[in-house]
Amino acid sequence: MKILLVGSGGREHAIAWKLAQNKNVSKIFVAPGNGGTALENKCENINITDLNELVEFAKENNIDFTFVGPEEPLTNGITDKFKKVGLKCFGPDARAAQLEGSKTFAKEFMKKYGVKTAQYEIFTDYNLAKEYLQKCDYPIVIKADGLASGKGVVIARTREQAMNTIDDFMILDIFKGAGKSIVIEEFLEGIEASILSITDGKTLIPFISGKDHKQIFDGDKGPNTGGMGVIAPNPFVTEDVMKDFEENIVANTLRGIEEEEFDFKGIIFFGLMITKKGTYLLEYNVRMGDPETQSILVLMESDLVDLIQAALDSKLDEVKVKWYEGSCVNIVLASKGYPEKFEKGFKITIEEGIKNKVFLAGAQLVNGELITSGGRVLSLVGKGKTIEEARKEVYKLTNMVDFKGKYFRKDI
Ligand code: AMP
Ligand code: GLY
Repeated sequence: MKILLVGSGGREHAIAWKLAQNKNVSKIFVAPGNGGTALENKCENINITDLNELVEFAKENNIDFTFVGPEEPLTNGITDKFKKVGLKCFGPDARAAQLEGSKTFAKEFMKKYGVKTAQYEIFTDYNLAKEYLQKCDYPIVIKADGLASGKGVVIARTREQAMNTIDDFMILDIFKGAGKSIVIEEFLEGIEASILSITDGKTLIPFISGKDHKQIFDGDKGPNTGGMGVIAPNPFVTEDVMKDFEENIVANTLRGIEEEEFDFKGIIFFGLMITKKGTYLLEYNVRMGDPETQSILVLMESDLVDLIQAALDSKLDEVKVKWYEGSCVNIVLASKGYPEKFEKGFKITIEEGIKNKVFLAGAQLVNGELITSGGRVLSLVGKGKTIEEARKEVYKLTNMVDFKGKYFRKDI
C-alpha cells in the first residue's frame, strides 16, 4: 500500500510513525512533511502543497488513500477534490469541515441537534454586538467566526476588553475577514479535555482522552500556544464524564451528521469543558490535535491503517480499538521566545536510542542535520503504567535532546 499524508507538524510525524507500522504499507509520501518525516521509516517528503497538484500526485503514484492532517486543506475542499476523481481521502468534505472552519456554523449545528454547549449569540452587526456587551455579565467569551490560527478566541474579563476585542475583530479586521462575524458566548468555568474520535458518519469511536496544556509557562501562565504537553488519558475524564459526553454530545453530533447528510469519514476532535453543571462542548475540530496525537497514538495498540480503512469502507461498527493500559505524557520542546518572537536555524542533537520517543515538528533536515525551523520544535513521549511513571520517563528524556534556546514546561 501507498499512502499520502498531508501536513508538516509533530502530529504528522506521529501519524506517519504509526501508519508505517502496518506491514502492508510500503511507502508513505508526506506533503510537505518535516525533518521527522524525512527520517521516518518508509517515508518520503514531497514538496507539494497545492491541492490540485496533490490530486495529480495521488493519481500518478497509485496512492491507496490520503490522510489529511491539518484543518486548512479540509476547509478548502481537499476531500471533495480527491473524491471527484475517485480517490480515497480520509477527512471530511468542505461542507462538514465547516464544523471547525466556522464557529457560527458549529454553534448553529450544536443548537439544532441539542449538543450541550455554552449559551451564545451570533453577531454580524458591530453596533448590535456593542449593545449586547453593555448588558451582559462578565467574563464573556468572544470568538471570531473563521480560522484564525488559534488566536480567534478571547476571554474578556471586562466590558472594556470586550469592546476592544470586537473593534479588533470587526472594525480593524485583524483576521482578514475571519472576524467579520462573531460568536459571543457564556464563559464556562471548569477543566478542559480533548477527546479525539474516528467516524464513518454512522459510528463514532472515541479515542483515549487527553489533557492539553495550552499556556506557555508553568502553572498555566502566559499567552496561549498550540499546546505545550499532553497527558493521556485525561485524569479528569471519569466514567460519569464519558457517559455525559456520549449521551449529550456524541449521540446528537452523529444524528446531526446523518440528518445534514455530511460525508464525514475522518476524525472529530471534541474540545470539552468539564464543569460543575456537566460536560460541555466548546468546539469541534475535524482533525487530530497537536500535540494530543503524539500521546494518543503512542497508547493505541490497534493498527491505524486498519481503522482508517474501516472508516473509509463505512465499517467502523465492526471494529474495536485496543489501548495500552497505562498513560502517556508528552512534552513539547519549544524555541525560547515562542509563541512570540523566536530564533531558528539551530542544530538539534538527539541521543542514540531514543528515536521512537521523539516526534519532530518545527525541524528540518538540512544536509543531513536536523535544524530548528519553528516555535514548537519537537515532542518527547514517555509511557508508563501510571501517569507518574510516564512523567518520570519523559522528563528524563529532556536531557537527551538539545538545541539552542530549548524551552519546555516543567509541570506537565
Ligand atoms: P475554542 O477554539 O472554541 O476551543 O477556544 C479556545 C480556548 O478558549 C478553549 O480551549 C478554552 O480554553 C477557551 N474557551 C473557549 N470557549 C470558552 C467558554 N465558553 N468558556 C470558557 N473558556 C472558553
Ligand atoms: N492542541 C489543540 C489543537 O490541536 O487544537
